[in-house]
Amino acid sequence: MTARKLGVGLLGAFRWAEKAHLPGYAASDRVDLVAICDVEIDRARAMAERFGARRVYADHRELLADPEVQMVDVCTPTHTHLPLSTAAIAARKHVLCEKPLATDAASAFTASEAADRQGVRTKLGFTFRYSPAIRQIKAWIDDGTLGEIFHIHGFEQNSQFLDPDLPLRQVPQDAPRDRLIPSSIIGYGSHLVDLMRWLGGEFASVASTMRNFVPERVVRGMGEARQRIQVEDGTVAIVEYASGAHGLLQSSFIAVGNYPGVELRVYGSRGAAVARLIEEFGVAETLTFARADAVEFKKVELPASHYAPGTTVNTPWAPLYYRNLVRHFVDEILDDRPQECTFFDGAKSQEIVDAIILAHRERRWVDVARNSGAAR
Ligand SMILES: NC(=O)c1ccc[n+]([C@@H]2O[C@H](COP(=O)([O-])OP(=O)(O)OC[C@H]3O[C@@H](n4cnc5c(N)ncnc54)[C@H](O)[C@@H]3O)[C@@H](O)[C@H]2O)c1
Repeated sequence: MTARKLGVGLLGAFRWAEKAHLPGYAASDRVDLVAICDVEIDRARAMAERFGARRVYADHRELLADPEVQMVDVCTPTHTHLPLSTAAIAARKHVLCEKPLATDAASAFTASEAADRQGVRTKLGFTFRYSPAIRQIKAWIDDGTLGEIFHIHGFEQNSQFLDPDLPLRQVPQDAPRDRLIPSSIIGYGSHLVDLMRWLGGEFASVASTMRNFVPERVVRGMGEARQRIQVEDGTVAIVEYASGAHGLLQSSFIAVGNYPGVELRVYGSRGAAVARLIEEFGVAETLTFARADAVEFKKVELPASHYAPGTTVNTPWAPLYYRNLVRHFVDEILDDRPQECTFFDGAKSQEIVDAIILAHRERRWVDVARNSGAAR
């Protein structure tokens, strides 16, 4: 481990940066928060004051030209993720980008290849990979504790948009009104697919069904009245893994329950583990474990070393997971550790979400073809 600090520049100083990203940098003694940039310069100024950044910019090109910035954090609206990340890669900066990186898998693969060519590291904001409970399950899979993996069940569901009068933001302004608009499978499903692929390996084939359950909603940017709009607010998919394991996946905006509402169950020949990432009564997540010879699930308490400094199982989920994510990316870069949760993984997740949507539209099994087996 070196005593060196990583120079960080953040693009997009709004709600999510304030809640999740900036507390991670402020808490790390290995980060020098060099600059914050927002097209609304007052937002950049306010965050710089609060989290101790040394410079502010209103134009991303100025931040990218700052020689002290080594890593760029893209925390801006979705449609800007790809152009800003691509510009940061071209400027030879390491990049952390919020998900999704792009709206199609091909451009996400292109950005991943550009980063490899430039010799910079990437990380996609797949928040739940940095849950201590999920990381423990990954360790139990890798060290053989769970044995051969048979079944993986993944859910991301909560009641965020159960109320039709709460403006839905995940709808592109030009979305067609006469067909189903994929939404929960993109917003929630992209995380879930990434988790299930990280734990179980490459997906071979998927089948799915998607539905619009709440037919009329208020949509952000489309007035205050409810619209007849076919937003997909629930998807179920079944998965055949390349390993032969079976997967089951559900994303839902309308399932009663608290945030973030992720549940992962892994069943193997020697044991099984269930992680519930659902904030309830001041506890962010729970982990239970059973063995083939002791089948009653027992609660597992994880040691303090599983948590980023300053966090515990009682920390709200956003800072709990994001501090861990930031800590991992900074350590990866400064200590030259193996990469994980990269733009390549983002592209793979996007490719699988596309396959799930196609399977529903054509009511058939769809093979997940490109780059299968090329996990890294
Ligand atoms: N991983 C997660 O669990 C999770 C959770 C919530 C939000 N998010 C993502 O985080 C991102 C930020 O969300 P948000 O709610 O903070 O607000 P937002 O996306 O509405 O805005 C972020 C800020 O970016 C600024 N901005 C826009 N274009 C810019 C540019 N070219 N250069 C510099 N600044 C620019 C805006 O002025 C705004 O202040 C979104 O992509 C969102 O999807 C991820």
